[in-house]
Amino acid sequence: MQNNITREDLDALIAHLQQDDPILTQSANVRAFEQAWSEWVGVRHSVFVNSGSSANLLTMAALRERHGPGEVIVPTITWVSDIASVLHCGLTPVFVDIDPRTLGMDADEVLRKITPNTRAVFLTHVLGYNGLSRRLLDELQTRGIPLIEDVCEAHGATFQGRRLGSFGLASNFSFYYAHHLSTIEGGMVCTNDADLYETVRLLRSHGMVRELDSDSRKREYWDEFPDLNPEFIFALPAYNVRSSELNAILGLSQLKRLDETIERRNENLLLFLKNLDADVYQTDFALEGCSNYAFTLILRRPDEALMGRVMTALSTMGVEFRRGTSGGGNQVRQPYLRRLLGDDAWRAFPRADHVHFFGMYIGNYPTLQRDKILRLCDILNELAHQGT
Ligand SMILES: Cc1ncc(COP(=O)(O)O)c(C=O)c1O
Repeated sequence: MQNNITREDLDALIAHLQQDDPILTQSANVRAFEQAWSEWVGVRHSVFVNSGSSANLLTMAALRERHGPGEVIVPTITWVSDIASVLHCGLTPVFVDIDPRTLGMDADEVLRKITPNTRAVFLTHVLGYNGLSRRLLDELQTRGIPLIEDVCEAHGATFQGRRLGSFGLASNFSFYYAHHLSTIEGGMVCTNDADLYETVRLLRSHGMVRELDSDSRKREYWDEFPDLNPEFIFALPAYNVRSSELNAILGLSQLKRLDETIERRNENLLLFLKNLDADVYQTDFALEGCSNYAFTLILRRPDEALMGRVMTALSTMGVEFRRGTSGGGNQVRQPYLRRLLGDDAWRAFPRADHVHFFGMYIGNYPTLQRDKILRLCDILNELAHQGT
């Protein structure tokens, strides 16, 4: 991977810092970034936080606040904080296997696992592939189950021409290093729901009523609690996961070229998949609406020897990769879940398990050169034939 922050972004920071008395804590630039992000995604409200994991946490906390305890249907391939946030909020994760063409959740299995206790489906768009289908959206709507989208790895990806992150009750983005847009650390919660928006604003900042957007809502609290100082009314037990003006300035600067960088990343992915040997490596991913974060390299068949050769070759060439793709592979194999689900739970998710052992992702970034991609494919294809 390569750093996504350019000289232009850094100059925007310096210009801010050169003012006589620059505001550094959450203020006008955070607001401006939230508004610009809402417009770009196509949602009414956005709340800037200090990481994608904080976005996950606030979304689950808001869901718990609204719907009480219950089950949340989650993927086996995702980032740890998607599951940890469910657990931290006293909700119960219910796992489903992946659809190999999107690496997202298998829609049939999601629908089979809905019960009267289901509070939400918390879906991840893995590495830029769209994880939604019309059937899933329609069924969830019919059954009244909220959808939460994790778009941390898929900024700008679309489904039926609309940006991901605009379909769910809420959606979460990460702006960590090497994501499509980076504010060093950072994240966003997006929603069209005015009540949820206000709850997330409270949760971001100690539960303080003065953080609410709506003056009439603030007034309701002032009237109800006349014994309290209006500056210090804590409506909910909450967190402090705010970010700063500096991170927002980076976000605003990067947003100007986000569409262009997404195009470059997608071109790179297409070149990579077109030149890989399709008999050996999976190349039939669902590319429509994709906004690639990193190249997916998954062996078609379990082959430990080939996987070993691939990893040795990549390490020797200094090509960064992560085994298991997003989040290191099958989450239910991780110690934090084994202690809840037992040591054998992974057996129920064979497709995620294949990716766990025979899949990886390789860094993709806008300035990655064409000839490097072609050479990488040549080497990977040659490795496949060395064992035969
Ligand atoms: C799918 C997914 N969700 C959530 C996160 C957490 O984001 P952050 O690293 O900003 O906490 C990540 C991390 O990159 C991710 O890939």
